[in-house]
Amino acid sequence: MASETEVRILNAPADLFQAAATEFVRLANEAVRARGRFCVALSGGSTPKSLFSLLASGSVPSIPWDKICFFFGDERHVPPDHPDSNYRMADEAMLSKVPLRPENVFRVRGEEKDAAVAAQAYEQVLVTFFRLKPAEFPRFDLILLGMGPDGHTASLFPGSPALQERDRLVVSNWVEKFKTDRITMTFPVINHAAFIMFMVSGPDKAQPLHEVLENPASDLPSRKIQPLDGSLLWLVDRAAAAALSAQAREKARTA
Ligand code: 6PG
Repeated sequence: MASETEVRILNAPADLFQAAATEFVRLANEAVRARGRFCVALSGGSTPKSLFSLLASGSVPSIPWDKICFFFGDERHVPPDHPDSNYRMADEAMLSKVPLRPENVFRVRGEEKDAAVAAQAYEQVLVTFFRLKPAEFPRFDLILLGMGPDGHTASLFPGSPALQERDRLVVSNWVEKFKTDRITMTFPVINHAAFIMFMVSGPDKAQPLHEVLENPASDLPSRKIQPLDGSLLWLVDRAAAAALSAQAREKARTA
């Protein structure tokens, strides 16, 4: 059970996305060589849009698009054509522009009236796809994550019920501050991944990043991302790294 964490500080957001693209291509080709496919869970919000656009731009070589299976780490409780939909963001920025196999895109049915039904259905998609036995967790080759200014990741928000979930793969999660349900993969699923990559950009992430990386007593959700047997890579830009201690910067790889 070997796990390792790396923090890489990139000068500007563009450097962060280039680094993320390089890792994505490396992991995709490794997975395809080893297992004939690459299973990746995409993150939502706005940061990943730049990575998705870069990957779809044609300027990043050797992406085995037809062997990539796309999943979503979380989704808003909205239809796929809604402006807030993580699927819509990924589809517009990347999925609709690349030669993937449509049957390899597994979106969350955010349009379901009951978010719990959407979560249950997505959980079944994972069970079927990964041929899981009861109490087994899927092992994604890569899970992309972002971090909110409140230290949330996926749709695992501070104080929300899903933080306690240890058995389910996907749950609906009431987010009080937004007064809405979200659908999210749980900590066990994320922490079973072979490779977890955070992309954190901007000054509003500096304080929570400092706490998550440097405060062992922090109960911020992003601190609970600890792969059981895999790698954790934090790609952060200078603005997001601004509150890190000199020691943490020393330890971090500055690219
Ligand atoms: C979502 C995301 C969420 C996101 C953070 C950070 O559905 O919003 O999955 O966890 O990663 O909110 O978003 P930004 O990186 O866009 O700030």
